[in-house]
Amino acid sequence: MTEERIVIRRAGPLHGEVAIPGAKNSVLKLMAASLLADGCFTLTNVPDIADVGIMADLLTAIGLRSEQVQPGTMRLVNDGAIVPVAPYELVERIRASINVLGPLLGRCGRVSLSLPGGDDFGSRPIDMHLKGLEAMGATFVLRHGVVEASVRTPDERLHGAEITLEFPSVGATENILTAAVYAKGTTVIDHAAREPELADLCNFLVAMGAQIEGIGSPRLVIHGVEPGSLHATDHEVVPDRIQAATYLAAVAVSGGEVVLRGARGDHMEMLLRRFHEMGPTITASPAGLAVWADGRLHSIDVATLPYPGIATDYKPLLVTMLAVADGVGIVTENLYPGRFRYVEELQRLGADIRADGHHAVVRGVPRLSGAPVRAPDIRAGAALVIAGLAADGETTLTGVQHIDRGYDDLVGRLASLGADIERVVSS
Ligand code: UD1
Repeated sequence: MTEERIVIRRAGPLHGEVAIPGAKNSVLKLMAASLLADGCFTLTNVPDIADVGIMADLLTAIGLRSEQVQPGTMRLVNDGAIVPVAPYELVERIRASINVLGPLLGRCGRVSLSLPGGDDFGSRPIDMHLKGLEAMGATFVLRHGVVEASVRTPDERLHGAEITLEFPSVGATENILTAAVYAKGTTVIDHAAREPELADLCNFLVAMGAQIEGIGSPRLVIHGVEPGSLHATDHEVVPDRIQAATYLAAVAVSGGEVVLRGARGDHMEMLLRRFHEMGPTITASPAGLAVWADGRLHSIDVATLPYPGIATDYKPLLVTMLAVADGVGIVTENLYPGRFRYVEELQRLGADIRADGHHAVVRGVPRLSGAPVRAPDIRAGAALVIAGLAADGETTLTGVQHIDRGYDDLVGRLASLGADIERVVSS
């Protein structure tokens, strides 16, 4: 059996410019929201990642057609022949498949959805999604791993509701939002998630004709429009702040000077502040973000929080940077307990980390040492690549398919900046 690997050797400072692709966590939601209106959608700045292909397959199974018009541009055609059934083989492959629930329920009044899979990092329930939609008139029955959803109102149309989320869940906010655009009356989502990708989805829906107030705030007010009145639109996907952070981390551990073309500093303010404290200089330029780094990083303490806090998806990168920083840093995970599985892999590279429950204590060492490691999920996989850049000798990374789910040519982009990195297929 052949398995692809990424081989990384410690390189000198990185130099040059790298374009930041569109965000996975936005494009998948935009694609799902295109179920809401008939017509031809064109999405640009679409990242070339595996999850986009899986979401396209799921939407095809439901009744849309999709094609890549050119690299980075996707056309989605919705001619209204929708079958609101999301089959297990596709749903289990990505967490974002849950995002078809809101649009299908709002448009068709019923959905049959297998429970989603995706990254395997602890329990990821959907109780807040279901509770919010129930307040709008939906009912759910779970049978054999399939959620059968329907709308039990006389006209089979959801109605507006005042919903306060216990926690600003990204997915729950998105599903309630996309269901609410066709609901009768006004829906208020309090304590809503406010990630930049969620604002991107709101802007997309508004361009389709939806009426949404409070975009980017923790209180979204959605005035339902007449069923069928939304229309297709064209939209540019917001740049990926997590991919951008990955290149910042690469420069932070390697040194050098790099421009991240298209990166949105205003979407990463808290993270940039923390990077600054660790040493690198990052400035916003008309082209995006410019990063300069030289010498050893300094340790900091850091805790993950919903946006505008430090995203949990940044955490493996920060742990990796702390692993080679001067001093001790404490990392606290507030979203997903147990999401520290990659720590064992970093330890194989010589990192001094003690992780327990929500916390990790990272004692920086001057150098890591290359070894074979395996990527357990997308973000941890990328962090192991960054660790490889900071490790003497050779690091070989397997589990490359995880990285391909969310990174558009990470290896090619790092190599273009001067990193000693390549993909090899070995048996
Ligand atoms: C999204 C992102 C993921 C990111 C996460 C947090 C996508 C495809 N994934 O995931 O990369 O790490 O936001 O920024 O966009 N929870 C419940 N009940 C629910 C919903 C969530 O208990 O009904 C919990 C989850 O288990 C988790 C926390 O709330 O502990 C955050 O989850 P949520 O914000 O919903 O994340 P996702 O939308 O799944």
